[in-house]
Amino acid sequence: PKDVGILALEVYFPAQYVEQEELERYDGVEAGKYTRGLGQQQMGFCAAHEDINSLCLTVVQRLVERGCLSWDAIGRLEVGTETVIDKSKAVKTVLMQLFHDSGNTDVEGIDTTNACYGGTASLFNAAAWVESSAWDGRYAVVVCGDIAVYATGNARPTGGAGAIAMLVGPNAPLVLERGLRGTHMEHAYDFYKPDLASEYPVVDGQLSIQCYLRALDRCYAVYRRKAESQWQQAGVQRPFTLDDFKFIIFHTPFCKLVQKSVGRLLLNDFLATPNPDTAAGLYKGLQSFRGVKLEDTYTSKEVEKAFQAASQEIFNQKTKPSLLLSSRNGNMYTPSMYGCLASLLAQSSARDLAGSRIGAFSYGSGLAASMFSLRVSQDAAPGSPLDKLVSSLADLPARLDARKRVAPQDFAKIMKQREETHHLANHAPHGSQADLFPGTWYLTRVDAKYRREYARN
Ligand code: ACO
Repeated sequence: PKDVGILALEVYFPAQYVEQEELERYDGVEAGKYTRGLGQQQMGFCAAHEDINSLCLTVVQRLVERGCLSWDAIGRLEVGTETVIDKSKAVKTVLMQLFHDSGNTDVEGIDTTNACYGGTASLFNAAAWVESSAWDGRYAVVVCGDIAVYATGNARPTGGAGAIAMLVGPNAPLVLERGLRGTHMEHAYDFYKPDLASEYPVVDGQLSIQCYLRALDRCYAVYRRKAESQWQQAGVQRPFTLDDFKFIIFHTPFCKLVQKSVGRLLLNDFLATPNPDTAAGLYKGLQSFRGVKLEDTYTSKEVEKAFQAASQEIFNQKTKPSLLLSSRNGNMYTPSMYGCLASLLAQSSARDLAGSRIGAFSYGSGLAASMFSLRVSQDAAPGSPLDKLVSSLADLPARLDARKRVAPQDFAKIMKQREETHHLANHAPHGSQADLFPGTWYLTRVDAKYRREYARN
């Protein structure tokens, strides 16, 4: 099969949110900390009767219905999530309810977990299946979903929730570029969930930021090396730079970190350039940073500021359009970077995207990270697969506008309620149907044996 990649993409986010500005006042922090400091505008959160299964049921059903697909046409389905409500039973198996009437049970794939990275691992697996001898000619579906919630305190404004489903197969408008992948994995305790009775992680925020930036450096170095050696084999000898990505999307815990990450990539380019011109142009005034070592700069405000300023225009052009969902819905964990992809597609024209290379950096604490790239098809004609994909996401801003704003004290109450009812048996969560978009699946009951039942709004 040729051009294996993403054919269609569906997004689900909750129908309610809090304003970060109001959250600043409610939390008693300085005005501007969450909005200007973290770059966050709003944060979506789930109703009391939503869980990871209901989120994924909703997004997969939407993908199949809106794409007019047959349930028989799917031969693989896997889920990347870190929202674990059962230590054995996979979310994937819950999703098999959707296939019931079709009779299709021949569906490979299962759940993958490591913080925000599970979706990317699933996407790599799905693409590998299509390219393998095990492929039976059908589509693969990759689902990423999470409910990102933190205990009260400084991490709480970096939450969010949502799910994304992607249809994977050949002849895709977004092709996973073969051989172009840089991965970095290591053992770290920056963010983890050792308390299985709680929805909340244990997090060392500052350490997690350093881990994220280190992983970014390492992945970019490997990615670049592989790109350059592909070129070399084709007889071209030149360095890979940010110019070679028309767009760059990132796992986005909060938007400010992504802006800093673009600066970080520019620092990488700067240090890799043999004789950069520091008298004029992109690297103007950066001469004093010539001798810095990447590993010494993770906490340097001076380096951060200089390269953030130097990369401002690159950020505006290549990355800013991808931050719509992240700034207005927050960190969705596994779907975060794919939400950036959806936002980029929603805010660009097919013509602008056609033929471009999109760089993608996926990070999951603990830690697992990869940089890879998507090549957008050349054909942007009306009715082309690319045009269809882009049009299918055009309503994203309007859907965000249609959500209900909730006061921070009510948000805090719902969070408390989730804490108290999380993992209860013999329990019917009291959420209102008015807090869900039409077509949303929700949890109706957890019986005495912890079996969960769902209905559709
Ligand atoms: N106006 C404008 N900016 C302000 C204001 C203000 N009044 N007050 C503070 N700020 C700025 C700070 O200067 C800082 O920006 P800077 O780093 O560019 O200088 C920013 O707001 C945040 O302030 P901090 O004091 O650094 O915030 P704090 O340490 O309290 O919390 C953190 C931030 C660590 C990100 C926390 O929210 C957290 O732990 N989140 C979860 C972990 C996370 O998301 N990690 C990222 C990778 S791992 C993952 O994806 C889960």
